Amino acid sequence: MAARFSEGFIWGTATAGHQVEGNNTNSDFWVMEHAPGTPFREPSGDACDHYRLFRDDLRTLRELGFNAYRFSIEWARVEPEQGFISKAALRHYADVLAACHENGLAPLVTLHHFTSPRWLMKLGGWEGGETPARFGAYSSAVMRELGSLIPYVCTINEANIPTLFRLLGRGDRRSEAWLVACAQELNTTVERFRPFLLAVAGQTTIMAAHERAREAVKSVRAETRVGVTLALQSIEAAPGGEERAASMWAQLFESYLPACAGDDFIGVQNYSRTRVGPRGVLALDEGVERTQMGYEYCPEALEGVLRAVAAAGLPMIVTESGVATEDDARRVEFIQRALAGVRRCLADGLDVRGYVYWSALDNFEWMSGYGPKFGLIAVDRETQERHVKESARYLGEIARSS
Ligand code: BGC
Repeated sequence: MAARFSEGFIWGTATAGHQVEGNNTNSDFWVMEHAPGTPFREPSGDACDHYRLFRDDLRTLRELGFNAYRFSIEWARVEPEQGFISKAALRHYADVLAACHENGLAPLVTLHHFTSPRWLMKLGGWEGGETPARFGAYSSAVMRELGSLIPYVCTINEANIPTLFRLLGRGDRRSEAWLVACAQELNTTVERFRPFLLAVAGQTTIMAAHERAREAVKSVRAETRVGVTLALQSIEAAPGGEERAASMWAQLFESYLPACAGDDFIGVQNYSRTRVGPRGVLALDEGVERTQMGYEYCPEALEGVLRAVAAAGLPMIVTESGVATEDDARRVEFIQRALAGVRRCLADGLDVRGYVYWSALDNFEWMSGYGPKFGLIAVDRETQERHVKESARYLGEIARSS
C-alpha cells in the first residue's frame, strides 16, 4: 500500500524572477538576450508581468488548493550597483511575501536563480574569487529586512548545472562573438564575463557562495530552513555503462555534498533521465516520446533520483518537477506518474517533505524563449490574461485533499 502524504507536506508551484517578472534590465541575462548574434530565441521583455500581477497569481494558486509558493528574489534589483541596496526593491519582495502568507502559501525563497547583476561580471561572475562574499552580503541584506517572513531559503538554484553542461560536452563558449559583445557592453573582458550558466569552472565559487548565504540566513533567523537545489537527471546505466554512470553521478551530485553539510534539506529538481553506455551518454531510441525540450518524457525519473539522493541522509524537497508540453493531458499524466513515484518513496520511509511543480505559469524558458510550455496556467502575453489549465486543477485538488 502506498503511503499517504503527511499533514505538513509542501504542495507548491515555482517561478523565478527573470522568467516571470519582466524587465529585469539590470541583469546579465538582459544583456545576453539583446547582444548582436545572441543565441536566445527572443528577449524576456515584459515576461508575465508578475512584478505587477503577483497578487492575482497568488490568489489563483490559493484557490487551486496549493499551500506553498517558490519564487526568487532578484539580486540585480536588490543590489543594482555594488554596495547599494534598494529599499524599494526589498519592499516589493516584502509585499510578495506578505501576499504569500495572506493566501496561506508558505514561501520558499530562492536567492539566486541563474541571473545576476551586471556589475558582478566585472568581478569574474561565478568564477570570480570575490563573488561568495558579495553573495553573502546580498543574502544578509535580504534576510535582515525580510527574514521574519521567510521560512525556507533555497540559496542557489541548480548549483550544479554548470557541471551538468560540462558533462554534456558544452564548452565555456568564451570565444563566441556574441559573448565578446556582452563583455564590451559591460566594460569588462570576456574572461571576466562569467554568467552562472556559463561558469563551467565555477563549482568552488558557487558552493562557497552557498555556504556564505547559509551563514547569512542562519545568523539572522536560525529557524529558517536552508538548502541548495540541484539539477538531477536520473542517471541510468545501460549494460557496460556502470562505471561511467557512477562517475557522472559522483560529479553531478556527490561532489556537492561536502558544502551541504549543515543544510536543512536538499532541493531535488528533476525533469528526465539520462542513459549512459560504455562510451558515454546514449542518444534516445527512435519512437521515444520527447517533451518540447527534446528530452525523454519520463515521469518515473523522479523516483529514481529521490532514491539516489536519499543516500545523503538529508530531508528532500522536490523543488522542481515538470514537463514542457502543449498537450495538457500529457502534463496531467506526468504529474500523476511522478507523484506515484513519490508515494512509493514515502512508503519505503524516504524523507520527502514536499512537491513543487515547475512552473506556475507558462514563462520565459531562457534560450528557448516563450516556446516551451511548462505552466499550470497559460499566459496570453499580449493581454497578460491568465488561463488555468486542467493540470492546475488536477494537482491543486490533490494538494487540497491530501
Ligand atoms: C530551471 C528553470 C527552468 C526549468 C525548465 C530548471 O533547470 O531551474 O529555471 O525553466 O528547469 O527547463
